[in-house]
Amino acid sequence: MPIIAPSLLASDFLHLADECKMLNESEADWFHLDVMDGRFVPNISYGLPVIEQIRTATSKICDVHLMIEEPEKYAQDFKNAGADILTVHYEACRHLHRNIQQIKDLGMLAGVALNPHTPVQLLQDVMQDIDLILIMSVNPGFGGQKFIPHTLKKIKLLRERIDTLGLNTKIEVDGGVTLANAKSIIDAGAHVLVAGSTVFKSKDPKQTIHELKSI
Ligand code: DX5
Ligand code: ZN
Repeated sequence: MPIIAPSLLASDFLHLADECKMLNESEADWFHLDVMDGRFVPNISYGLPVIEQIRTATSKICDVHLMIEEPEKYAQDFKNAGADILTVHYEACRHLHRNIQQIKDLGMLAGVALNPHTPVQLLQDVMQDIDLILIMSVNPGFGGQKFIPHTLKKIKLLRERIDTLGLNTKIEVDGGVTLANAKSIIDAGAHVLVAGSTVFKSKDPKQTIHELKSI
């Protein structure tokens, strides 16, 4: 069964406690938390104080997706805020290997995210060091965008490499995931589905999570 990671970017921030409660009662596995700095991506979302509060509202895994420049400056802060998984962007890291080690030394699981234009082959020399690879299936910065179909080829290629090397690295797919395309994403080899709008803009978010989980 896929791991389901609803993105709280699409949640109702005025009722964040209720949204957390709903996710806690649902079959969601992880809380996906999108941090944007207005530099790496053309949008600003939320940051450390919000994540600290969400941490107190759940015992589920907090999966923090950093869409920020110089993520190494804030790794300790996100650990303190309660992140279990910290994902940095390949395109934002000049010393990716060092940044991965830093995240692991802090006691978090380390993820690396790839923008739609970044080939999966570029991770060849760090694959064995990371717990998670996040494949962006939209250009990062905004929820509610359309899934880029070419992503399926990247997922397949990456899954083949992971299996050939006998690694446990998880493939997470983020952006434009819907009930209609989730099966093709899983079939391509993804382990984790992020879903923002599909979950929070649906009539019955718990039921939608159940349907994603049952794929
Ligand atoms: C986009 C974020 C996503 C976003 C997904 O930059 O990384 O996690 O919240 O939203 P949907 O599922 O609506 O495409
Ligand atoms: Zn994300």
